[in-house]
Amino acid sequence: MSDFLLGGSGMPPLPDASDAPADPGALLDAWLAEADRAGVREALAATLATASVDGVPSSRTLRLAALGADGVVFGTSAASRKGRDLAANPRASVTVYWRELALQLRLDGEVEVLSADASDALFADRPPAARAATVVSEQDAQLGDLGVLRARAEALAGGDPIARPDDWFGYRLVPSSIEFWQGSPDRLHRRLRYERAADGMWSVHGLQP
Ligand SMILES: Cc1cc2nc3c(=O)[nH]c(=O)nc-3n(C[C@H](O)[C@H](O)[C@H](O)COP(=O)(O)O)c2cc1C
Repeated sequence: MSDFLLGGSGMPPLPDASDAPADPGALLDAWLAEADRAGVREALAATLATASVDGVPSSRTLRLAALGADGVVFGTSAASRKGRDLAANPRASVTVYWRELALQLRLDGEVEVLSADASDALFADRPPAARAATVVSEQDAQLGDLGVLRARAEALAGGDPIARPDDWFGYRLVPSSIEFWQGSPDRLHRRLRYERAADGMWSVHGLQP
């Protein structure tokens, strides 16, 4: 039998809803710590799904800057497809799959744009080559000559600190639901879904696989 759902981590099973922590934050932090301990590759590589104002969906991988019950933070170009989707329809869904542990996380919610200062800080945290590439690339515009972009990026990388482009921002998805999914060899996979009410309180229930 394929063991892709077995993990190999000795992760404790997800608690039943009746024993689950009242707040998903602690469980999420425990999962992140376990991913770190288990050496999960690209633990913060996530799929971000958006939809246009007409309801046309699209998804792509992003490397998250933060993943927590209070927010999922990423940076991107407001002019990109996802940026335009989020401007028109500021809701999204983020999924993370950790193959090494047979775990999936799903966080849905509204998305807000971070302030200029917070976006600056996020941009400054990126490696120099990533900053240079972001400045010279008009994300999603049709490519002409890659060599031209490369030459511009190299020129920038050797110079002054690279400032955040005007159309690049940090974004924060504020989860209104968080689902923990744990693969089980008997295929009766475990699922726990937390939902946040308007008053900020979380409720939790199990789901059939
Ligand atoms: C591992 C990985 C990490 C990525 N991280 C980012 C990121 O942080 N920001 C970003 O704009 N694109 C990132 N990308 C590129 C996106 O997947 C995508 O190609 C790009 O943002 C354009 O998406 P859009 O046309 O849907 O807006 C990453 C791709 C991969 C595979």
